[in-house]
Amino acid sequence: MKAVVLCAGEGTRLRPLTYTSAKHLIPLANKPVIYYTLESLREAGIVDIGVVVSPNVEEEFQSALGDGRAWGIKIEYLLQRQPKGLAHAVSCARDYVGQEPFLVYLGDNLLQYGVKEPVQRFSQSQAQATLLLTEVEDPRSFGVARLNAQGNEIIELVEKPQRPPSRLAIIGVYLFDRRIFEAIEQISPSGRGELEITDAIQRLIDQGHRVTPQLLQGWWKDVGRPEDMLDANRLLLEGLQTVIRSPLGPEVIVKGRVEIAEEVLIERSELRGPLIIGRGAQIHDSFVGPFTALAENVRLDKSEVEYSIVMEGAQIEQVGRIDHSLIGRGVHLWRRRRPPDAYNFVIGDKSQVRLI
Ligand code: G1P
Repeated sequence: MKAVVLCAGEGTRLRPLTYTSAKHLIPLANKPVIYYTLESLREAGIVDIGVVVSPNVEEEFQSALGDGRAWGIKIEYLLQRQPKGLAHAVSCARDYVGQEPFLVYLGDNLLQYGVKEPVQRFSQSQAQATLLLTEVEDPRSFGVARLNAQGNEIIELVEKPQRPPSRLAIIGVYLFDRRIFEAIEQISPSGRGELEITDAIQRLIDQGHRVTPQLLQGWWKDVGRPEDMLDANRLLLEGLQTVIRSPLGPEVIVKGRVEIAEEVLIERSELRGPLIIGRGAQIHDSFVGPFTALAENVRLDKSEVEYSIVMEGAQIEQVGRIDHSLIGRGVHLWRRRRPPDAYNFVIGDKSQVRLI
């Protein structure tokens, strides 16, 4: 079976980070989101993976993932030239997929237990499509499914309904046979101007094809917004085991589970797990954690960072307490000793800075 991973798009809700990085390449627990996807596909025995990219991120993906050899998989890049919706993105993979059933994975989704079991169950079933579902409190920002009385078939799908017909949200992992391509040809753009994959699947249902549900085990996260990124980071860090690969400097207090990479320097600081610290980081007179990921070569001086993601090479000096934050690569954040008469900024487009 092949997989098609959808990574096109602008990532508008994660600007300004997505001006310089595709959202799928933002690190969670110090590893780009997309790596988790590739690993779960390989674990499910899928090694042929088509990554659908838009022209703005194509090069970045190619340099981050290459041909997939590092994961023991074979990646091909499929271009979606215009953002015309998920169903359109899937149709870009038509030639790549050929005649066989295939899996579609929305590259910004994370599943605790991966896709191994859903793939096995679909392969043994007679279904033309299988969707993964999970019950959520408020399904209005997702595709929503209604099941038959036996609960073994999906009979209705609606995209982001105001009045959801159930609390079963559609997770971004779909299993299809090639009939989905014909269904995509028959749909027209939705109210938001996109070819919706839910509409194409509804078309399959209307034509009498069997579309089955699989209820998800474990957690699932769609990381489209900053708060989702931070929550996914938290969930991943929950599963972390203590590994300390650098000698700790003087007066370092460690509580809970921490993962510390090589060549890290920490002195006079408190680490409260779960947290992860990448290679070459330097931490002086600071407090880190819980639920915090400091990437490679981050520098922290006289600061406190909690429930945050700090990306490669960022420097934070004398800032006091930082909470619930996403800090991009190479950012320099510091505070002057006395309150300034005026602030001086160099801030990228669409940054969000709150001064109190
Ligand atoms: C897409 C799908 C939606 C699904 C969601 C899962 O929405 O259209 O049906 O529930 O992914 O992440 P999007 O996140 O593109 O708005």
